Amino acid sequence: MSKQTKRKGWERFSRVGIILILLYLMLIILGFAIRLLFFSDQQAVSIVPEDSGVISAESTAVPGGNVPEESSMGTNENILALLVDQPYLAVLEGSSASISVNMSTTGEAGAEDLVWSSSDESIAVVDASGMVTGVKQGTCDVTVAVKGNEGVAQSVSVHVRHLDEKNGCTFVDGILIVNKTYGLPANYDPGLEDVCKNAFEQMQKDAEKDGMNLYIGSSYRDYDYQVRIYRNYCELYGWEMADTFSARPGYSEHQSGLTIDCNTIDDAFGETPEAAWLAKHCADYGFIIRFLEGKESITGYKYEPWHIRYVGVEKAKEMNRLGLTLEEYLGVKSEYSGPWKDED
Ligand code: DAL
Ligand code: ZN
Repeated sequence: MSKQTKRKGWERFSRVGIILILLYLMLIILGFAIRLLFFSDQQAVSIVPEDSGVISAESTAVPGGNVPEESSMGTNENILALLVDQPYLAVLEGSSASISVNMSTTGEAGAEDLVWSSSDESIAVVDASGMVTGVKQGTCDVTVAVKGNEGVAQSVSVHVRHLDEKNGCTFVDGILIVNKTYGLPANYDPGLEDVCKNAFEQMQKDAEKDGMNLYIGSSYRDYDYQVRIYRNYCELYGWEMADTFSARPGYSEHQSGLTIDCNTIDDAFGETPEAAWLAKHCADYGFIIRFLEGKESITGYKYEPWHIRYVGVEKAKEMNRLGLTLEEYLGVKSEYSGPWKDED
């Protein structure tokens, strides 16, 4: 056989080989596509507090997550990815809160296929249903992983907070908390605290340089003043409605001396350039917008773009970055224990 004929035969043989390899690769890709299209079942397992005795599962779309390599799959190869509902959880010492997790699956899978662990059990422990209990003040990670395939996992940063009560005032990790759960004594009467006043004045000066006119609409209010305000709203709207936007006496942050209402106290303020400036810059001066939009069920109050609370620059910036309310950041509730009864 001539050299030329040999080369031609070899070239034909290589071409056929390449075509066969390409066909093989296409078949693999097609197989994956069919599996994803027809057999992918996205399931959310919402793990609710143990005392309710319910573990519910429902279908949902799960964006992102860790998709394991085929070769690393273990006994729970049905679970492709996990997604926790929050990257951050705060809980008080001795209290519990649950983490729910979404699972992206290709078949049968349930809460029993997951394994939970804490990076430091002296700070927080977690049970088999994702219920986290704070042990002592500190920070650790709680991780949920697929049993037998621990490469598929998600972690939550857990912050265990310490609650202190001093003379009827409640402090969580040193922050005075005033909301529907934690009130102030009627005789707590600090006036507008200097730290809040000074921070506001500096902010006001800097806002002015940006062409903004920020001023105090309302600041310190003592217990008796709040009695008059709240009673008036109750007469106008009834206590249930009043509770959505006005604090009961002894439960207003205005009595703490650490709160200011900026400019006009009405929803129209939210549309002004001053409101946008405040939301963008107030953390630089140690303030948070206290009652955030969309977080009414957590703070207990409707959105108030004008109501700012002094918490210090570092904490304000952290809450802002995480998009958390004070309740979420400290791991506390804001709920009255019963209906309003005017005793006077
Ligand atoms: N408007 C807020 C909730 C207050 O009355 O303190
Ligand atoms: Zn206010």
